[in-house]
Amino acid sequence: MTTMFWKLPHQVDIKHPDIVEIAKRLRQGEIIAFPTETVYGLGANALDAKAVAKIFVAKGRPSDNPLIVHIATMEQLALLVEEIDENSRKLIEHFWPGPLTIIFKKKEMVSELVTAGLNTVAVRMPNHPIALTIIEAANLPIAAPSANRSGKPSPTTAEHVFNDLNGKIDGIVDGGPTGVGVESTVIDLTGDVPMVLRPGGVTIEELQEVLGEVKLDPAIVGQKEQPRSPGMKYRHYAPTGEMWIVKGDDREIIKKINSLIKEKSLIGKKVGILTTNDHRESFQEADLILAYGTKDNLYPLAEHLYEALRIFDLNGIDYILAEAVEEKGIGLAIMNRLKKAAGEKFIQI
Ligand code: TXA
Ligand code: MG
Repeated sequence: MTTMFWKLPHQVDIKHPDIVEIAKRLRQGEIIAFPTETVYGLGANALDAKAVAKIFVAKGRPSDNPLIVHIATMEQLALLVEEIDENSRKLIEHFWPGPLTIIFKKKEMVSELVTAGLNTVAVRMPNHPIALTIIEAANLPIAAPSANRSGKPSPTTAEHVFNDLNGKIDGIVDGGPTGVGVESTVIDLTGDVPMVLRPGGVTIEELQEVLGEVKLDPAIVGQKEQPRSPGMKYRHYAPTGEMWIVKGDDREIIKKINSLIKEKSLIGKKVGILTTNDHRESFQEADLILAYGTKDNLYPLAEHLYEALRIFDLNGIDYILAEAVEEKGIGLAIMNRLKKAAGEKFIQI
């Protein structure tokens, strides 16, 4: 199939001819990728099972992994969910539009395909003018997973989407790089205590400030096999090169990484390092060093994390060493994605 391509300014009018065209195509059942503040999403009419089915095919996504429904107005939320309880209201007030996905009891009309047969539906209002304008113009709730081939790092630019899905989807809207870089936080309020099923753009600390007690799904910290969010059980975000996370005392880490670089180079491997700017100058002999943010400000690392994994692949890096970060604030989401990319492989010093 031919994939259409549109380039739009960050702030775009709902009457812009491209928006009108994109909205029309979504209403006709096409699947179109567009930017959100976290990562690019691959959107389809959430009320059209045939359109939603195309998403699973294009991504190569297992059908037991439910999709997030994206909305632009509270009227659209009322279409999808049975009730909006007190805690949900508080979260919506504080964090929408933004990188927070809330699990609700679903209404009948939400397709089983969207929710993978669950009786709940995941909803979020993205904080990106292009995404909001498209959803508003289409006047539909839009089901949208990240716009990557299943198993690949999520896309943070339109080029990433193009590389994964050109010829497999109806269109790509280029709105420039996304900002947050990791996906939304997924929270489930249907149990006794609010539970984070996937750490993401909104931190646990921020959620605790609003809700009081918030738990993390034990599967995320490795204490339980089966995560409650179906998507969390797959090995995601994987680069082609072999990847390890290096954890431990700061000075020892630099020594250890440098000795590993030597060892791997000797047997002809291309070595890549992922770190923060605190250590940018410390690994002179690596083939490629990618450094973002600092230990005190990890947001730039989150922003560029998936891009970095793709850059390692593009440069034919065989062996990737990623420095661990502290698992608090946005660092929790970063470590969660690094662990998946590395297949949970750690070098502990
Ligand atoms: O930031 C984001 O959330 C991006 C952008 C495009 O909005 N979307 C995204 O979608 O990351 P996806 O499909 O890649 O991840 C959705 C996650 C999966 O882990 C899925 O299992 C979980 O949300 N999920 C969806 N519906 C659920 C439900 N009813 N109960 C539990 N988990 C659910
Ligand atoms: Mg995804």
